[in-house]
This record gives sequence, C-alpha cells and structure tokens, in this order.
Amino acid sequence: MTPYASYVEVCERLNELTPGSHEKRSFLVNSGAEAVENAVKVARYATGRPGIVAFDHGFHGRTLLALTLTGKVHPYKQGFGPFVPEIHRAPYSDPFRETGRLGDTITMLETTVGAESIAAVLVEPIAGEGGVVVPEPGWLAGLADWCREQGILLIADEVQTGFGRTGAWFACEHEGVVPDLITTAKSLGGGLPIGGITGRAEIMNAVHSGGLGGTFGGNPVACAAALAAIRTIESKGLLARARAIGETMLRRLRRLSAGAPAIGNVRGRGAMVGIEFVGGDGIAPDRETTGRVLRRCHQDGLMVLGAGTYGNVIRLLPPLVISDGLLDEGLGILERAVTAS
Ligand SMILES: Cc1ncc(COP(=O)(O)O)c(C=O)c1O
Repeated sequence: MTPYASYVEVCERLNELTPGSHEKRSFLVNSGAEAVENAVKVARYATGRPGIVAFDHGFHGRTLLALTLTGKVHPYKQGFGPFVPEIHRAPYSDPFRETGRLGDTITMLETTVGAESIAAVLVEPIAGEGGVVVPEPGWLAGLADWCREQGILLIADEVQTGFGRTGAWFACEHEGVVPDLITTAKSLGGGLPIGGITGRAEIMNAVHSGGLGGTFGGNPVACAAALAAIRTIESKGLLARARAIGETMLRRLRRLSAGAPAIGNVRGRGAMVGIEFVGGDGIAPDRETTGRVLRRCHQDGLMVLGAGTYGNVIRLLPPLVISDGLLDEGLGILERAVTAS
C-alpha cells in the first residue's frame, strides 16, 4: 500500500496523542466496530493465543465479532448467532451495584480460561452504552498490571471515550493506564467515517503484509475530517471545555438526585454522564421511569439517549462545543422531566 500524506499525518497524530511514550504504529479503518475487529486480529496474531476477554456492560459494535464481544443480548445479539469462538466474558467493575471486584474477575479468568490462552483483554475505560459505568478507581490499572504479568495485551476501546469526551484525550489517562492497543473512531472523524488502531510498534509490525487493510479505510476525505477535528479540539481548548461541561452536569444532576429518590446514581467523567433510575428499594433497575423521563425530554425538544444493561440509565453526551446557554436549557428540561415522572 502507498498511503497518501493525510493518512500518514492522521497516524502520526494518533501515535502522538494516545497514551504512552513508546514507539507506536497506527492504521485506519471506517468505523469503531472495524477498529475493534482489527485490534483483536493483531492481538491474536502477535501473541499466538486465541482467547479474548470482554466484559459485561461492554459494547463494541455490530459486526459479528464486535457483536460477540458486546455484552447485552437485547436488542443487539438476539437472533444473530452463532457467535465467534474463544470470547470469554468477565464481570466489569460497577461501584454502584458493587459487582466485578478485580480479584474475583482475575480468579475467574485464571480458573476458567487460563491466562496462557488469553491474547488480549478488551475493555472500555468507561462502559458507555452499558450505562456510563465508571469502574472503581484502580480497577483498570490493576487489570493492566495483571495483563502485563501474564503476557496478555490490554486493548482499550476508546471509540466512545476517546478524543476529549472525558476531559482528557483518552479516558485511560485518568487512571494512568497505558494500553498496548487502543481503538478510536466516533469523535476522531467529527461525523465522518474513520476509525483507528494504534499500538506498540512491535505488536503492530508482527502482522504480515496484506493481513490488514480495506478499500476505504483512511480515505482522503475522512482523513481531512480527522485532522480538522483534532485541530479544532486543540484550538478551541475542548478538553478543558469537556471538564467544565462535566462539572456543570454533575453538580446540577447530583442536586436533582438529592430530591429525587428514583435516581439511584449520577456518575461520569467530563462530558459523559449517566443517570441511573431505581425502584423504591434504591437498587432495583427502574426501566419504566427511565422511559417516562426519556419520552418527556423528547416531547420537550431535548435529545437524550437511554442506555444500560438493564435499560435504566439516561446517558448524556453533549457536544463539546455546546454553549453554556444551551447546556443550561437542556438540563432544565431534564430536571423538569425527572420531577414530573
Ligand atoms: C465503545 C464502543 N466501541 C465500538 C463501537 C462501534 O462503533 P461503530 O458504530 O462506529 O461501529 C461503539 C459505538 O457506539 C462504542 O461505543
């Protein structure tokens, strides 16, 4: 392949911006799902091991391998099997529900899979579609340590969390974690289809020529969009803006939750926030109230998304260029919808 200058430039920016000062290589694809597929291919090839660990609450896309890696059955997986072999599901840390303690996850993998059979652990630093689940502090770093000790590659799926969403270029940075491979898409292209796989040079270089690629991956239009998106994040100071948006959202929503027993938990990082709705016992997922709040928001002109393994989370991912006025207006609609529901 003879890449043009903009393709090389996007890869250089990815190598420079992603966590870690080691030598890196990147290549480009068309979507998040494709980025995940290719990271798994690289990890299996480089380690010679078959197993891939993915987590409950995880979402990795809708192609068959990405779907296999995704945790939630309805609506994503139902009817689309059989799925890809050698994918092992492990519990993800959920501090609100007190599940997925690191020690238990590791014991489970060591006893049911065997570390020597695992090529890679694939993890979202914050489980987005799974309900903006922010793992226990130290969980991701502990997982990374275990992977390193066992010769297992850590793949961070930053398709949703990457490129400023959480107030850093990548969410792994909040935990001081340097993954071996990292997948990017979504905000990288600012609306155009592009995804990236970035990894340690020796891992990426292991794959034979012709083993990875595709016709449209990193096409010139998508590369121009990615370069413009990165420049805009830098020139408009959007990492700081994501942190400020997050502070406003968390402050307002935590105040709201103090007077709204239906809200069990408000959590997030930067401009990525989840509101979890629960029943009278304070823990049982309340899908119905979530639905009522969502419908009311939509009626009043606020576009918000439902999420979560149990369908009881509202996920807020405002654009990083949102004005203070519009953010205030949106939060006002949401507050009224919660109070009325
Ligand atoms: C963490 C994560 N990985 C992968 C994907 C799949 O990306 P795409 O829809 O571009 O295939 C998504 C999409 O929501 C995602 O959130």
